Amino acid sequence: MPTELPRDIHRIAISTSGGDAPGLNAVIRGVTKAAILKHRWEVVGLLNGLEGLVDTTRTVQLGLEQVRGLLSRGGTVLGAASHGNPFSRSVVKDGQAVVEDLRPLLVKNFRYLGLDALVCIGGEGTMKIAAMLGEMGIPVVGVPKTIDNDLAGTELTFGFHTAVQTAMEALDRLQTTAASHHRVMILELMGRYAGWISLMAGLAGDADIILVPEIPFDMQEVVDTVLRRNRRGASFSIIVVAEGAREKEGDLHVLRHATEGTYANERLGGIGGWLADRIHEQTGLECRSTVLGHIQRGGSPIAFDRILATKFGVKAVGMIAKGRFNHLAVLENGEIVARPFSEVVDREKNVDPDGQTVRYAERLGINFGRLNREVRI
Ligand code: F6P
Repeated sequence: MPTELPRDIHRIAISTSGGDAPGLNAVIRGVTKAAILKHRWEVVGLLNGLEGLVDTTRTVQLGLEQVRGLLSRGGTVLGAASHGNPFSRSVVKDGQAVVEDLRPLLVKNFRYLGLDALVCIGGEGTMKIAAMLGEMGIPVVGVPKTIDNDLAGTELTFGFHTAVQTAMEALDRLQTTAASHHRVMILELMGRYAGWISLMAGLAGDADIILVPEIPFDMQEVVDTVLRRNRRGASFSIIVVAEGAREKEGDLHVLRHATEGTYANERLGGIGGWLADRIHEQTGLECRSTVLGHIQRGGSPIAFDRILATKFGVKAVGMIAKGRFNHLAVLENGEIVARPFSEVVDREKNVDPDGQTVRYAERLGINFGRLNREVRI
């Protein structure tokens, strides 16, 4: 049921927040084209997250011409905001640093710009912000984005499969060097606290060991797997490790801690190098670690993500037309449907350590840093 009665819509805005992901521009294009062609609405782009609601000059008019050629382009033409708090800012008043509440300004400028609805494209943090905008009286709908694929409530987020493809191609390249030099090659991948990118890229890229946050690993098991492979004549091993993976009883590898009062998350990383040193110490084998980093976020979206992003964009427009605010478009059983923000906020979607993909991988002899219950090789 619609949360509100359909209202007269003339002008809508789009904002992109959080880390970029391949397909963001495809959503911007999908929203803009459907809004103009189907409904004859005007479309405005807010620059750098919600900056356009703080300073109304930080906006751009989006027409068919502005979105031409965007389907295949990586990044976001609107710019993103992944840190800071959009609802407050520090200002100096009478020589004193004070925190200014920006919420009244955001609402005032939303009206000043003549907007009737807002499409927020982003991950879990953005959906939380979108839910708060809804509480402030701004009619808002969401589109789920993240290469990590960790957003609850949707089977997939756009950008994920492109990141997996990029990681798989990196693994294909590492395979040949690993084989030529008889080395242990480690690839550290993104994903925050979820192992989706590592699991899928590891499977597609023929990894021997995959370490994900959902299965804290036993270092001895990792070392034994590498040694067993050597004894069996495999002179090299390929290990995929998620940035959020950690040893049993061990800590996360954190490069920078979260900043309180902002939306700046802790920055993970470093486990690949750490693992290379440990394996070398315990086996004497030559180990190298590669951190794929932001390469996973860049580049042109693959066909799947272009299509998913486009469908999400068209759905967002349909949701606005029906007055279905405070909802985001999600993929469910292959269909794009609307779900309330409350179903995704403060939740996370993780790899099931005993799910089909992990079990099937184990049947192929892939080790997850735990005793392989499917096959022993
Ligand atoms: O959420 C997407 C993501 O790329 C994570 O996989 C990674 O931990 C994080 O963003 C990196 O963020 P930043 O670009 O701010 O360093």
